[in-house]
Amino acid sequence: MTAQVLDGKGLAGRIEHSLRDEVETFAGMFGRRPRLVVVLVGDMAASASYVKSKAAAATRVGIDSDVIAVPETATTAELVALVQAIAADQHGPADGILVQLPLPRHVDAVAVLDAVPPDRDVDGFHPENAGLLSQGRPRFIPCTAAGVQRMLIDAAIPTAGKHVVIVGRSDIVGKPLALLLAQRPPAGCPTDGGCDATVTICHSRSGDIGHFTRQADIVVAAVGRPRLITADMVRPGATVIDVGINRVDGKLIGDVDYGPVAEKAAWISPVPGGVGPMTVAMLIANTLLAAELRMKR
Ligand code: GUN
Repeated sequence: MTAQVLDGKGLAGRIEHSLRDEVETFAGMFGRRPRLVVVLVGDMAASASYVKSKAAAATRVGIDSDVIAVPETATTAELVALVQAIAADQHGPADGILVQLPLPRHVDAVAVLDAVPPDRDVDGFHPENAGLLSQGRPRFIPCTAAGVQRMLIDAAIPTAGKHVVIVGRSDIVGKPLALLLAQRPPAGCPTDGGCDATVTICHSRSGDIGHFTRQADIVVAAVGRPRLITADMVRPGATVIDVGINRVDGKLIGDVDYGPVAEKAAWISPVPGGVGPMTVAMLIANTLLAAELRMKR
């Protein structure tokens, strides 16, 4: 079997296209465009590159964006004060606020992220948004988790009653994705895709991860370990979603050993061009949602 490719880049382009129309409607109604403010701390090349992609996507759909770059030496107190100033619109109106991770080791990342008001938290990392998601009434869903769910729905890959094994328990991807895929279908949901799954989360203390992934209809790899998921860990006909983005010898590779796994799986997402562009598209969708919610207040 050779897997069909889950083309995240193509799907993200289609989503951006429809968001562009919604942004124009917003601008026509309110006489301004949604605006995203991103805080970038330090000079990590990968973070700078992700932030550039986010700002470029905002521009493509007609959303204003601003990147505030801060030196690596910034303290927790300075970053909290900066986020509070952004939230007070001192850097222009900010419908969505995003602090790019990771933050330098000396910074208390939780304190900085908690300073983002929950109604502008387009990353969905604030405890209020995490709590709403866990109760099945999501507001801002973390972008990568939302992107993975959207890819599954778009490809009509069933999740109801299926076993999803997520490798990685981060607050950014693993935990919110587990909640999303296991939830009941939201009221009025036009499809029954992307929910009602049986979910297992594996992590560094799970022991033999292959023991779990071999039982999966859908494997999601989200740990940041190059080629962790090998062909022997995947059952024939499974769907394999690769959230990992690792730089090895100047090349971007995922957490999945792509070539051999693609020979065995039914569906596979590539790196690059899979989940990455979907994360960005979901961020843009969350920013528009934040602006709409703000105008309703
Ligand atoms: N770093 C890696 N992924 C993310 C993300 O989704 N949001 C933020 N803010 N930082 C990240």
